[in-house]
Amino acid sequence: MKRERIVAGNWKMNLNAQEATLLAKQVAEATMDVNGTTVILFPSFPFLSLVYAEIANGRVAIGAQDCSSHEKGAYTGEVGAGMLSSLGCRYVLIGHSERRTYFNESSALLINKIRQVLQHKMRPVFCFGEKLEDRRSGQYFQVVKEQLLSVLSGFELNELQQFILAYEPVWAIGTGETATPQQAQEMHAFIRQVLSENYSVEFASGISILYGGSCNAQNAKELFACADVDGGLIGGASLKSADFSAIMHSF
Ligand code: PGA
Repeated sequence: MKRERIVAGNWKMNLNAQEATLLAKQVAEATMDVNGTTVILFPSFPFLSLVYAEIANGRVAIGAQDCSSHEKGAYTGEVGAGMLSSLGCRYVLIGHSERRTYFNESSALLINKIRQVLQHKMRPVFCFGEKLEDRRSGQYFQVVKEQLLSVLSGFELNELQQFILAYEPVWAIGTGETATPQQAQEMHAFIRQVLSENYSVEFASGISILYGGSCNAQNAKELFACADVDGGLIGGASLKSADFSAIMHSF
């Protein structure tokens, strides 16, 4: 297992078809001189094919923001992992704090979603992070450890090797308040320590751990320079091609 540098754009529920197509084209162009960094775009479901058509240069991959925990069948409105992989998706975001908060997604549900992702040969980008009250009360290490292990414990090591982790402190998401490089590094190092205690040193040092939460063109360089930060999951700043391009070039 080798650690990868990754810059991923989570477009959330933004853009229309024309805007998504244009942004994908701009991102594809901006990756022409990016070497050694995996770039992933996470558009909304309806735009996956449009974006896929624009990233034909092969330097950008696409992923979905969510998937169903069911394989297929009578689940109106749901989107199955098999459908996503048939569209060219290679990644799926799982456990984003917005899904946990607004759609009550539990660790048990996340495990079932990840099973679907793995079954269809895609990689989960598993998101977790503490809330502001956890940070203030000093409980943040414990909270992060529990979120992490409650889901990872559902899988075997060979499955876990497909995971990408994204530490996203909830107080930093969309707030303009970023974790300092020290805070990010401290947590990423802690995550690797938890993984080496529960699995192996090799696994802990090989897995990619992204930082997310108000990462932007100004602060990405400093965050990505941290020893245990392997890149970023970018929300707001991924919607502007110039900003996202600057972030892609921040390593
Ligand atoms: P943000 O979102 O960059 O807008 O804070 C990050 C995320 O939710 O993944």
